[in-house]
Amino acid sequence: MSNQLLKGKRGIIFGALNESSLAWDAAKEVKKEGGSFVLSNTALAIRFGKVNQLSEECNSKVIAADVTSIDDLSNLLNQAMEILGGKLDFILHSVGMSRNVVKKREYYDLDYNDFIEALDISALSLHKLLQSAMKLDALNEYASVVTLSYIGAQRVFFTYSDMSQAKAMLESIVRSFGYHYGSQKKVRINSVSQSPTRTTAGKGIRGFDSFYHFADKMSPLGNASSNDCAKFIITLFSDYTRMVTMQTIYHDGGFSSTGISKEVLSNYRPGCTCFVHDQGEE
Ligand SMILES: NC(=O)c1ccc[n+]([C@@H]2O[C@H](COP(=O)([O-])OP(=O)(O)OC[C@H]3O[C@@H](n4cnc5c(N)ncnc54)[C@H](O)[C@@H]3O)[C@@H](O)[C@H]2O)c1
Repeated sequence: MSNQLLKGKRGIIFGALNESSLAWDAAKEVKKEGGSFVLSNTALAIRFGKVNQLSEECNSKVIAADVTSIDDLSNLLNQAMEILGGKLDFILHSVGMSRNVVKKREYYDLDYNDFIEALDISALSLHKLLQSAMKLDALNEYASVVTLSYIGAQRVFFTYSDMSQAKAMLESIVRSFGYHYGSQKKVRINSVSQSPTRTTAGKGIRGFDSFYHFADKMSPLGNASSNDCAKFIITLFSDYTRMVTMQTIYHDGGFSSTGISKEVLSNYRPGCTCFVHDQGEE
């Protein structure tokens, strides 16, 4: 069912790689709610992923941009305004990558070039995007920018590695830029801290299956799915949340407020090294 909550709104959606991407479901939901948008990803992801399929389904153009490049971002913002016919009302920044995570390096044995790259792609890119948008005056009043975060910004998930610092920086940029963009142009900026979700980036984290199941059993509502996340993003893009900004909002079925759940406790066997779920992962 659609309520046309985004009718007449224009935007950019970053980060749809394939059907499992959080941005994929978000794009489909935005389309359903009447929004029009341009899709963006790296040239490589466009070539090897399925963005073009999504663009056909949503009747949207795809523009390549590396989020670490200010030239690419400025070009994308200019082209999106031209294609969509005016300034933008929403942006979804659904981008993250850490080679240290991909290479499964221990936190105390990280490659620093990869660490810096992870911060650049996963966090600083939001600042670059917002600064470029501000300079080009690309966003309408009360436009809504949403990025995706994870509770690893606040707590240690021992294989989340340098992405913990990237997410902490990302959430800090949400607050700092949210203040400046809000007071100058009434643009709002929020991050959604999402449950573990089976996406390409998610499944690249060592032990992902175990912490997916652990989170599911810890959360009174269970893990939030990608489709739930998409629906929540719609509310943040809509006019119903006009006064919400600079927040990290937990979209996690209650995980972040739970200390220990009955489900987790009843699966714990003292003296047993396996806990809740074990698929033979490290
Ligand atoms: N999957 C989870 O469990 C989970 C949980 C919480 C938050 N998140 C966050 O959600 C966001 C989306 O990830 P996802 O889980 O949908 O995985 P995904 O792999 O489908 O999406 C990540 C996207 O980032 C893009 N990307 C990487 N480097 C880029 C660059 N230099 N320029 C432009 N785009 C680039 C990739 O091409 C890909 O489309 C990420 O920020 C991730 O950290 C994921």
